[in-house]
Formats: sequence, C-alpha cells, structure tokens
Amino acid sequence: MTNDGFNNDGINKKVLLKRIGQYQDPGSVQDYVRLGGFEGLRRAMSMERPQILEEIDRAMLRGRGGAAYPAGRKWRHLYDMEAEPKYIVCNGDEGEPGTFKDRLLLEQDPFCVLEGMLIAAYVFGAKDAYILIRGEYRRAKDLFRRAVANAEAAGYAGDDILGLPGFSCRIHVVSGAGSYVCGENSALLNTIEGKTGRPRVKPPHLAEFGLHLKPTLVNNVESFACVPVILSLGGQGFLELGTEDGGGTKLVCLSGHAKNRGVFEIPLGTPMEEVLYGDHFGGGTVSGRPIQFCHFGGQSGPLGFPEQLDGLFSYQDMWDRDLALGTGAVVVMDDRVDVVEYVREVAVFFVHESCGKCTPCRLGATRMLACLDGILAERAAGGETSGMVTELEGIMRHVTELSACGLGQTMGAAVGSALKYRRELFGFAGEPAL
Ligand SMILES: Cc1cc2nc3c(=O)[nH]c(=O)nc-3n(C[C@H](O)[C@H](O)[C@H](O)COP(=O)(O)O)c2cc1C
Ligand code: SF4
Repeated sequence: MTNDGFNNDGINKKVLLKRIGQYQDPGSVQDYVRLGGFEGLRRAMSMERPQILEEIDRAMLRGRGGAAYPAGRKWRHLYDMEAEPKYIVCNGDEGEPGTFKDRLLLEQDPFCVLEGMLIAAYVFGAKDAYILIRGEYRRAKDLFRRAVANAEAAGYAGDDILGLPGFSCRIHVVSGAGSYVCGENSALLNTIEGKTGRPRVKPPHLAEFGLHLKPTLVNNVESFACVPVILSLGGQGFLELGTEDGGGTKLVCLSGHAKNRGVFEIPLGTPMEEVLYGDHFGGGTVSGRPIQFCHFGGQSGPLGFPEQLDGLFSYQDMWDRDLALGTGAVVVMDDRVDVVEYVREVAVFFVHESCGKCTPCRLGATRMLACLDGILAERAAGGETSGMVTELEGIMRHVTELSACGLGQTMGAAVGSALKYRRELFGFAGEPAL
C-alpha cells in the first residue's frame, strides 16, 4: 500500500476507505489531520470558487444516494442562484434496504464527510449545514456530534474556519424520523424543519426552494466524502479512477447469499464478474450454488439475472443491461430462492413504506401485492395467471408514471425486471402486455 491509499495491484484502489481502521479514535480531529485530513479543504480555500466547480464537474461524480445525478450539475445550479442564505444538507438517512455504506463512513471516518460539507459551505457561502442521520444510527450520531465539537475547537468548523475571516459555518446534526420515505430529499428537508417527513411536490427544485424555501444543496454521505478526494486528486484524477460516465470508486454493499458480505470499495468500471466472484470481493455464494439473481440498488432497484451480469460495474454499462447501480447495494441470491416470492416481499415493503400522500402509489402498492398473492396462489394450484399478470403490468405502469415521488416511481422496478427476464416463473407464457 502506498501512502496515498492505493494498492498497486490495480484492483483495490482505496480512496474512501483508506483511513478506516487507522484511527486511534475516529472522533479525534488530530487523528484525522495526522492521516492527511483537511488537505482537500485547504486546497479548496486556495482556489477561486468557479475553479472548484470545474473540478467537481470534471470528476464526473454521480450522486451516491441512488439517483446518480451528476454533482457538478447540481452544484452549478445552486451556485447560479442569487437568493440568500444557501443551505448545505447531507443525507445520512440510509433507508434503502441492503445499504450500509454510509454507516461505515459515519462511524469510522466522520471527518471526511464533514470536510466535504465544509468545502460545499465554502463554495456557496453557507453559514449553516445540516446532516440528518437515521434514528437507528445512534453511535454515528453521537460520534458525529463529537467530531463537530472537536472540529470547532480546533478551528476547522464554526467561526473563521482555518483563520479565514468570514468563512464561518455551523454544522447541525439532526436525527431521522424513522421512515424510508424520509430519505427522499424533499421529505428530508421537511423532517429537518420539524414537519411530517413527507415528500413535497416538485418542481420547484430544491436548489431554488429548499430548506426554509431557500436554495439548498442535498447530497448523500458518500457523495460528500468524495469531495475532499476530488480536491486532493484533482477532478481528472478522480475521473480516471472510474469510467467516463462516472468517476471515482464506489462503496458496494454485498449481502444476501454472497460468500463475502460487507462494504467493498470498487473502482467504477470493474468487471461485474470480479465484483460477484472475485476473492477480494463477493467470492460467489456462501453455499457454493449458482447465483440466480442479484438485486441491485436496494428495494427500488431491478433484479439482474446471469445473462445480464457479464458487463462492467459502472453506471452506463449497467443501464445498458437494464440494471441500475443505485446506492451500491448488491443482494446476491442463489438458485434456491423463488423469484416470485422474492418480488412479493419487495411489494410488502412498498405497501408498508408508501406515505399515502398520492393515490397511484398508495393504492397501487396494495394492488400490486394483491396481484402477486393471486399469482402465487394460482401458480401453486396449476391455474391460469395471465389475467393477473396483465393487471399487474397495468398497475405497475400507472404507479411508475403517476406517482409524485421516487418511491412510487421505482416500486415496480424489481417485479418489472423479473417479469421481463423470468416471465415463465409467473406461470404465464404469453406475450408481454406492455
Ligand atoms: C423513497 C426515497 C428514499 C431515499 N432515501 C435516501 C437515503 O436514505 N439516502 C440518500 O442519500 N438518498 C436517498 N434518496 C435519494 C434522495 O432523494 C436524493 O436523491 C439524494 O439524497 C441526493 O444526493 P446525491 O445526489 O448525492 O445522491 C431517496 C430517494 C427516495 C425516492
Ligand atoms: S409516491 Fe408514494 S411515497 Fe411518494 S409522495 Fe406519493 S404516496 Fe408518498
């Protein structure tokens, strides 16, 4: 391992996890500085703000919270807004099942997230930055609060940061309200404002009317953690860690039947086979049986079957194969799992998590589950399921097109992919109705 955290084997390029396990105390600002921390912030403070935006743009950092929106575009939009004040918000709700990478950063390297937020505060002149951490992450919340207090005491946060008059930013740590939808960015802002954590109708965009209806930047924990890396390596250096359509490395959460489960840092563009079967990464299945499918990006993502899995672990290549990288969750399932029963469980999740604000999502989720129950019962009896499958596809289309927020818009992803690639398992051999 070289000093900058790279292994020279070309596989294990760590820029996000390089300090994990190196701390005596992850809440100690002195430890962070000893490990090279705040280099990115110092570099940012030596640059003109538009130059920083150019570096973020060049890095081609895509949001790590699931939607993969280019951070450069989002930052530019906020920068161009004239209204004041501007707010910075870090999304640490991490509610997507199968996703546990933000927790690792928050519990073991909180300062890298804090540093990313401070760089954003510098760019936008924000005096207040918020991080919402899910309620269940008690250790992360306590540690982050301690990290903020230590950073303020050492002059890295609070007033006149690093001695620069007027560069002042308070970091506020807020506890999540406990529901999956509270991670949706507008519901997150409502939660911070003390309102019910339900999504707002968009537009207007949060860069224009965000927290307290002021221009606001919302980025994920891992996205903020990438920002100091971009400033240290330069946008081009970060881009080159990944692919043209998405720079950097990605934290991947392998779970389910994977032999090796946990959080892995993987350069974007790594062959999928390496991710799933490589000894450094997934290592195949714990049972030694074949992988039947992987569920990518959490409950809101598609299933990927073996014929889709011979490409690259990268944004575009996965989209080209009807897959989505999403949060980086990869739930591996071996061939003992019933695909239809699996997607039924996904439907149960969405019935539970729909906030009920809009009709297509509220009723659609329940109807989707009822159809899947009907199909399972009919299939077990050896009966005809084509009518129910057609109904299911109609519901999915309506829910996807008419729901007000990303929860409803993506709830059909898993069942849709199963129907497209393993239609015969639903007990129906006819042509797709879509
Ligand atoms: C139902 C729902 C739940 C979400 N939960 C999270 C979450 O827990 N954490 C997160 O970072 N983004 C979550 N998102 C995505 C956010 O709305 C938003 O896109 C993200 O925080 C933006 O940051 P990024 O661009 O850095 O990814 C969720 C979206 C939806 C629709
Ligand atoms: S799509 Fe679902 S979760 Fe989103 S606002 Fe509508 S009811 Fe609520």
